[in-house]
Amino acid sequence: MNPNDEPSRSDSRTGHPWRKGPFNIFGIGVDAEWRSNLKWSRLQGKIAPLENRLVLDVGCGNGYYMFRMLGEGARFVLGIDPSLLFLAQFHAILKYAPRLPVALLPLRSDEFSVVQMRERGVEFDSVFSMGVLYHRRDPEQHLLELAQALCQGGELILETLVVINSDEFFILHPEGPYAKMPNIDLIPSQRILNGWLVESGFGDIQVIDISKTTVDEQRSTEWMTFESLTDFLNPGNPEQTIEGFPAPIRTIVKAKKL
Ligand SMILES: C[S@@+](CC[C@H](N)C(=O)[O-])C[C@H]1O[C@@H](n2cnc3c(N)ncnc32)[C@H](O)[C@@H]1O
Repeated sequence: MNPNDEPSRSDSRTGHPWRKGPFNIFGIGVDAEWRSNLKWSRLQGKIAPLENRLVLDVGCGNGYYMFRMLGEGARFVLGIDPSLLFLAQFHAILKYAPRLPVALLPLRSDEFSVVQMRERGVEFDSVFSMGVLYHRRDPEQHLLELAQALCQGGELILETLVVINSDEFFILHPEGPYAKMPNIDLIPSQRILNGWLVESGFGDIQVIDISKTTVDEQRSTEWMTFESLTDFLNPGNPEQTIEGFPAPIRTIVKAKKL
């Protein structure tokens, strides 16, 4: 391509769909489906400072948050996520900053051997799990995996869907899709979620944010042209999903490994 040419639309959207962002790569703005900076701003300053910490990001997607963690001074950030597309997006960005202390392994959390890490003397100071728990059939098993990866006194930052219901001990179990997502098994109330955390070996549990997902934060863009939140909500009542369930509300919780 002639360097003076404007990139064509298809050139500029290489790697589609970009779910998490935004990124700015030498003037090319990648306007991803999720404005992930909004989630980051909801937890920034409310968690243990990441300065010099060893961090694990489970379900890291394309690594957007890993770059933000490095920006907060983390010593090293390891991400795990089974999506090969997100791995390719991560490397497309890392190519321009190859010396950053960050790596992404294409694994699911149940394939990632914490035992082997431990044998090599590796325990994480902070572990993030954002947007993963509701995809797991056995959420308490996921919380146990996160606890095993942490050093004693280390911090878990958990972001997930919750239901707000007059029954504090409510669990939503969609039999079919939830907001058109086929793989959502259980969405607990905050009280149930806190109970799962206690059962999994966490204490000092603090809810640092509860927010409703808005179409300002999750929407279709040139870099993610498939359906997005507007298509997942009831057009007559945005308080409900298209299937009639409560619309997505997300909590961010921090907890210490006891
Ligand atoms: C909804 S996205 C969340 C991405 C990012 N953490 C965020 O908060 O925006 C869920 C991610 O978790 C990954 N994932 C799903 N199950 C996983 C598992 N068992 N272990 C690790 N990652 C998983 C998916 O590939 C996907 O990238």
